[in-house]
Amino acid sequence: MKTFIQLVIVGYFYVFSFSSFNQVKCADFDENFLFGVATSAYQVEGGWNEDGKGENIWDYITHKTNLIMDNSTGDIACDSYHKFKEDVFLLKSLGVKFYRFSISWSRLLPNGTAPNGIWSANPYAVEYYKQLIDELIANNIIPMVTLYHFDMPLPMAQYGGFQNERIVRDFENYADVVFKLYGHKVKHWFTINEPNSCCEIDVLMASVLQTEYVGNHGLIYMCTRNLLLAHASVYRLYQKKYKWKYYGNVALVIDSNYFQAGSDCDDDLKAAERYRQFMIGKWGHPIYIGDFPSVMKEYVANASRAQGLTTSKLPVFTEKEVNLIRGTNDYYAMNYYTSRLVFFNDTLNEDSLQSDAQVFVTVDPKWKQSPTQPLIYVVPEAIRKSLRFIRDEYRNPTIMVTENGYGDKGEFDDRDRINYFNDHLKQMVLSMNEDNVKIIGYTAWSFMDNFEWTNGYLSKFGLYSVDFNSSARPRYEKDSAVYYRKLIETKTIPDLDDNSENRC
Ligand code: BGC
Repeated sequence: MKTFIQLVIVGYFYVFSFSSFNQVKCADFDENFLFGVATSAYQVEGGWNEDGKGENIWDYITHKTNLIMDNSTGDIACDSYHKFKEDVFLLKSLGVKFYRFSISWSRLLPNGTAPNGIWSANPYAVEYYKQLIDELIANNIIPMVTLYHFDMPLPMAQYGGFQNERIVRDFENYADVVFKLYGHKVKHWFTINEPNSCCEIDVLMASVLQTEYVGNHGLIYMCTRNLLLAHASVYRLYQKKYKWKYYGNVALVIDSNYFQAGSDCDDDLKAAERYRQFMIGKWGHPIYIGDFPSVMKEYVANASRAQGLTTSKLPVFTEKEVNLIRGTNDYYAMNYYTSRLVFFNDTLNEDSLQSDAQVFVTVDPKWKQSPTQPLIYVVPEAIRKSLRFIRDEYRNPTIMVTENGYGDKGEFDDRDRINYFNDHLKQMVLSMNEDNVKIIGYTAWSFMDNFEWTNGYLSKFGLYSVDFNSSARPRYEKDSAVYYRKLIETKTIPDLDDNSENRC
């Protein structure tokens, strides 16, 4: 009898320690790793003119131009303005630790400005975001909030958007209202989503609205300058007024797609490095090191001279501005979707970043292309290269992957999306384990199918499908949602070719 009991105890000990050992060994991500999903206000909310919301540039673009491929609008989109409780219910069932969403500036401040601080805020909007945040917190989901995700209030675009320094104070005032309203509940703030994309949209809006800035050289650089000042001013505002009581984090979400050399020849290696500085360093260098990268200053100055300009198109920061911007990221927020090949090329002579950087940018014909979002080629190994670049350039900062995703036609059995996630996650694990990159979280774009900017509803990125033909906008789970739920549960990247239940 005694021996039997001993056997049971020893057996139990064995099974217990063996399985927990296996768990530790098998899990690719530790307990604290954050898995979440993201959306943005204009892409999901709808309610475009409800309860006093002001007009923003996407209301304008969708209503007054024919730039949207399927002529659709975000007027209703996923109707999350009314269906947020259902959204949170689905998020809960997905098991995510956080939800990254954005606040619509023109919903909260219909004219974009806040002359009377929080008293300028639209009370319906105040209530909407309060309820969304409360609902998330009640369900143990961390709210992560982006202040600006491409949807500039129209009055700001009319004065030139990020081309005009006025945006800096207006953005800061808007952020102040948001922090005052929700700072005690939200601990993760993103100032601006994808500055490269923002500046492209800014230039597009300048031509749509025919603002006085059209025709000027270097619009992108002016946008870059003011956007960095806007980001930094909001970071400083938070530090001064809110950090000491709320202990939150603030970061700029940098589009960090990777530009790799097209060949091993020295000119191409240098060209790729240069273009990385033009696309990532343009943001990262001022924030982590101080001022624009010197190679960028040199090349833009030369290009400006060649174009007959007397000063460089790249604005010069004062010492005070350099100091204002330096040190304004609590962690590196990284969006990664794709990669490009870069070759040296000095024959272009146009007003473009590629011409200024003396590069030719292309793709590898072997890379698989998203069928609906032609800009996305699937290059998972390049996320690791981008992570390594950030590690080396900015003294190994903590990194949060704030977006990664794949566009298709909206299939329920979205195997290509699952493969995309799986392959990128594998590369991230290699980065963490072998390259000593510090990654604290991963965000799948997107929680559900939504208004995909100029692609309208033709390109779908969601883990959940939305029936846009039904006024009730019902949501349905896709295979990728099932995949992501399991990933979050097991913290383990599955071997998709192996059908056995669990490789552990
Ligand atoms: C943007 C999203 C967009 C996604 C897919 C990202 O650049 O932040 O708003 O939907 O790409 O194109």
